[in-house]
Amino acid sequence: MKNYQVVLLKGDGIGPEIVREAVKVLDKTAQKFRFGVTYTDALLGGAAIDQTGVPLPKETVELCNQADAVLLGAVGGPKWETLPGNLRPEAGLLGIRSAMGLFANLRPAKIFAPLRASSPLRGDIIGEDLDILVVRELTGGIYFGERGRREVNGQPAAYDTEQYTVPEIERIARVGFDSARKRGKKLCSVDKANVLEASRLWRETVIRISAEYPDVELSHMYVDNCAMQLVRNPKQFDVIVTNNIFGDILSDEASMISGSIGMLASASLGSGKNGLFEPIHGSAPDIAGQGIANPLATILSVSMLLRYSLEEPQAADAIEAAVAKVLDEGYRTPDIFTEGGKKVDTAQMGDLVAACI
Ligand code: NAD
Ligand code: IPM
Ligand code: MN
Repeated sequence: MKNYQVVLLKGDGIGPEIVREAVKVLDKTAQKFRFGVTYTDALLGGAAIDQTGVPLPKETVELCNQADAVLLGAVGGPKWETLPGNLRPEAGLLGIRSAMGLFANLRPAKIFAPLRASSPLRGDIIGEDLDILVVRELTGGIYFGERGRREVNGQPAAYDTEQYTVPEIERIARVGFDSARKRGKKLCSVDKANVLEASRLWRETVIRISAEYPDVELSHMYVDNCAMQLVRNPKQFDVIVTNNIFGDILSDEASMISGSIGMLASASLGSGKNGLFEPIHGSAPDIAGQGIANPLATILSVSMLLRYSLEEPQAADAIEAAVAKVLDEGYRTPDIFTEGGKKVDTAQMGDLVAACI
């Protein structure tokens, strides 16, 4: 029997609550599909700061790099907001993405049919089976460029730098094209090439790489227009490829197509099989500890973990089908609740999905 090593980074706020439910579902899936999973807990974010003084202990990096896959809840919260930038929980998250070389972040914004009423977008706008994939560059751009404080004209000032190298753009462009090739064969590259030099290099490079993919239809869009088009007519998109910060913002926007940010999973991948899987939402301090967070984004992240890192596609499909069934039966956490639904809490939702595997 195969046995996989999975590191759990539960993190802060609702992190431990949602990871608990995801583990429940993974255990049930492992049983059904006859493989073993050994879990190792490691510290990241605020939890790591409280216990070790730093958001990303060396031991966490070592454990994650040795694992078959990593599952993350979320990090951050008001308790650590006044720390200097490099010691905040979020710096730990950026650090682990970088240390594992995870340059490609896949964020699928899909609508489960029974949740159409939970989306703030009109039914005719989302259609029957809206399915957009945001491919976000994850280890470059303004998140990792030079930043600091300095004086400008005798006044205190601060700066952050958006920078991309050609190889960084080439590799994420290929992830975008390869993803589009396996889906609807349409790739929209989103940038701000009318203003930013880094975006002009981005666009040039994406166009050059497109010669390798004559079967994929490439378009370009400015990010401000894209933000508007996602609400006006999301059906026009298949795969969106974009830089780190635009991908962060556009994926939260796209998540509402699916009814709630609590539904959106993600996979962060590099050149090897090992990846980091996490919901796109944060630690939700406003609802932490109440047991009402939606665990489905984390459960669906386990499905991506099975598909991309453990290469257990049937197990991955089983989780998606179980989520669809539970939603079909009307079960809803408060964030996706609509009239006539059956309201459940975090643990009940986890139990229901596990029972459907
Ligand atoms: P957030 O995503 O944590 O919360 C935004 C809103 O969505 C809140 O009202 C929250 O209650 C709701 N929400 C989020 N996840 C939910 C879920 N699973 N079920 C139901 N409702 C959910 O974003 P924020 O409030 O801007 O940030 C809070 C903290 O999280 C900050 O410290 C931020 O830096 C951090 N953060 C971490 C990650 C991560 O770890 N990957 C991602 C985003 C934000
Ligand atoms: C995300 C988060 C992170 C990001 C923060 C917490 C560093 O918003 O995963 O989307 O901006 O990448
Ligand atoms: Mn984000």
